[in-house]
Amino acid sequence: MAQAPPPAGAPPAGGPPAAFRRPPDFPTRPPADPAVVERGKQIYSITCTFCHGADARGGSGGPNLIRTPVVLNDKNGELLGPVLKEGREGMPKFDLPAAQVSDIAAFLHSFRVGGYDISRMAPPTILVGDAKAGEAYFQKTCTSCHSVSNDLKGIGGRITDPKRLQQTWLMPGAAGRGPGAPPSPGTIVKVSVTQGGKKITGRLTKIDDFLVSLTEDDGTPRSFTRDGDNPKVELIDPLQGHRALLGKYTDKDIHDVTAFLASVK
Ligand code: HEC
Ligand code: HEC
Repeated sequence: MAQAPPPAGAPPAGGPPAAFRRPPDFPTRPPADPAVVERGKQIYSITCTFCHGADARGGSGGPNLIRTPVVLNDKNGELLGPVLKEGREGMPKFDLPAAQVSDIAAFLHSFRVGGYDISRMAPPTILVGDAKAGEAYFQKTCTSCHSVSNDLKGIGGRITDPKRLQQTWLMPGAAGRGPGAPPSPGTIVKVSVTQGGKKITGRLTKIDDFLVSLTEDDGTPRSFTRDGDNPKVELIDPLQGHRALLGKYTDKDIHDVTAFLASVK
């Protein structure tokens, strides 16, 4: 049977993506300083890629950002900032300095609104790091909270997609069980209990409305009965360590650590 002719106006098969043929719906912006865009890209790729995609056109759970009114109408981060600060359903809050927000904004604005920028396509593999260097980095930076023979045992076998593995260790809450999810059992959560003016800090072992138990650094177990706010109990955000580290990794550290974790089978 003869094939039906393509509908009038349809592009020839194998032609450029539709977006290239359409005039832009929005005025293009003046080009930003490439150094600023690059800085924004760095922060974006660590904090936002997993959910919104490397090309900001949507990822695991997050919408396409290029055409959202927030991004379209934003000039220099002034509309983006409040969204990040408040968070959204399914998106954690990000308390980023204004300079980083405007860098991210510059990165998002650097995309053609209707276009598809081929140079932004993800490389075929991100396992380009040096696993040995990654191991050394891990020993220095991560072993205060993790061990590859304990909680991260077999992580590279458990998460086989390198991209997902990378996002998991960069931002555990986002890639793992969703933002705000309670830490899994075995996670080290620190707690401090202040009683009679004395503050006792250690690893949380149990907490409910009536009792809080912890193990001090020297191994001493302690338990306190709770009566409302007495004693005062402060849980230390378990992902605080990860947030603090986010700004410190270089690209090389990130690739090296991912290569190392991928080798932990
Ligand atoms: C854990 C996943 C996750 C991460 C990480 C994340 N987002 Fe989101 N983001 C979402 C989801 C889901 C929504 C949609 C929320 C909704 O529908 O209300 C969203 C919405 C947004 C919106 C609003 C879009 C609109 O139409 O109003 C902006 C802007 C945004 N994100 C930017 C960012 C930036 C920039 C980062 C990195 C600093 C980031 N997000 C990190 C999941 C995420
Ligand atoms: C201050 C403590 C701390 C430091 C330092 C730290 N992490 Fe974490 N990490 C955590 C906590 C807490 C979680 C959340 C665990 C959970 O939700 O189960 C976590 C989660 C993870 C996860 C996800 C585990 C899983 O089973 O899905 C990975 C992978 C990870 N971290 C890797 C690293 C790497 C690599 C480093 C060093 C670059 C590092 N972490 C530094 C505390 C820390």
